[in-house]
Amino acid sequence: MVKIVIENMARKEVTGKAGSSALRVFHENYIDWMHACGGKGRCTTCKMIVVRGADALGPLTDAETRYRATAELAGTERLACQAKVTGECHVRAPEEYKLPHQAYTD
Ligand code: FES
Repeated sequence: MVKIVIENMARKEVTGKAGSSALRVFHENYIDWMHACGGKGRCTTCKMIVVRGADALGPLTDAETRYRATAELAGTERLACQAKVTGECHVRAPEEYKLPHQAYTD
């Protein structure tokens, strides 16, 4: 069992199976998270800011490496559809991809 704490959603804790993408863990816990390309690694709208536990997110995928090279993905960001969760991490939804119907605490 792995855990993601979403810091700017009142530090909501969600759990899932080890090796699942962060996006899958969000969805399995009824958290809506932007994912414009449907989780195929072809956009950056699912990005999450990693606050703690970056080592619990597996290695960068090819898509993430590409976006890092073009500066569309910062060093502290991962794509939720690509990052495989292997432990506990703390993340934030970035300002630019917050959903209008989802409640955020900051
Ligand atoms: S949903 Fe498009 S890259 Fe993750």
